[in-house]
Amino acid sequence: MADEQSETSEKASVSRRAFLKGGAAATGALSASLIPGVADAQLPEASEADPRHSTVEMKVNGRPYRADIPNRTTLLQFLREDLKLTGTKMGCDRAQCGACTVILNGRNVYSCTTLALEATGGDVLTIEGLAKDDALHPIQQAYVEHSGFQCGFCTSGQIMTSKALLDRMPNPTEDQARAALAGNMCRCSAYKKILESVMAASRLMRA
Ligand code: FES
Ligand code: FES
Repeated sequence: MADEQSETSEKASVSRRAFLKGGAAATGALSASLIPGVADAQLPEASEADPRHSTVEMKVNGRPYRADIPNRTTLLQFLREDLKLTGTKMGCDRAQCGACTVILNGRNVYSCTTLALEATGGDVLTIEGLAKDDALHPIQQAYVEHSGFQCGFCTSGQIMTSKALLDRMPNPTEDQARAALAGNMCRCSAYKKILESVMAASRLMRA
């Protein structure tokens, strides 16, 4: 899967389709302690001696990871800097913009204010986990078809919040969708198109 993502990104020119697949270019560059399935003995020994570090374990996009990291590492830092899953963006870094939204155990969360330690034992879904091979997820498809973004910086967060909404409420009203997306800012003010995209995604996913 990581190799497929890496290969996909290398091939990608700057296209809307490739952009929405999430910038998963560098998943092949993991350190040894982050390679899925790595034996305990290969973890840095300092993890046991240094109380400022802990071992975290979680599934990200269906793949198990185990790593020794500083306790203060946010989930956003872990995803972007350790796993090189850079489709999740850092905007405000203080729970105000929603650019960093991922799904943790079925709920959309701000990964900038969630510690990686809090996600231990959990299931994390990021924008890189939505498309299957060359097929966009219906929500991504709807955002493309309805121009639900301009610069795109907020888009992975908008899409992950949309996914959490449609998973728990497959047929929302416009007001319900607007309320669900209230925590995701868009500096380009593409709100009308974002809402259209979510409603179109709802129809696509129920078809
Ligand atoms: S970067 Fe997390 S809410 Fe803005
Ligand atoms: S599309 Fe530019 S910030 Fe939302």
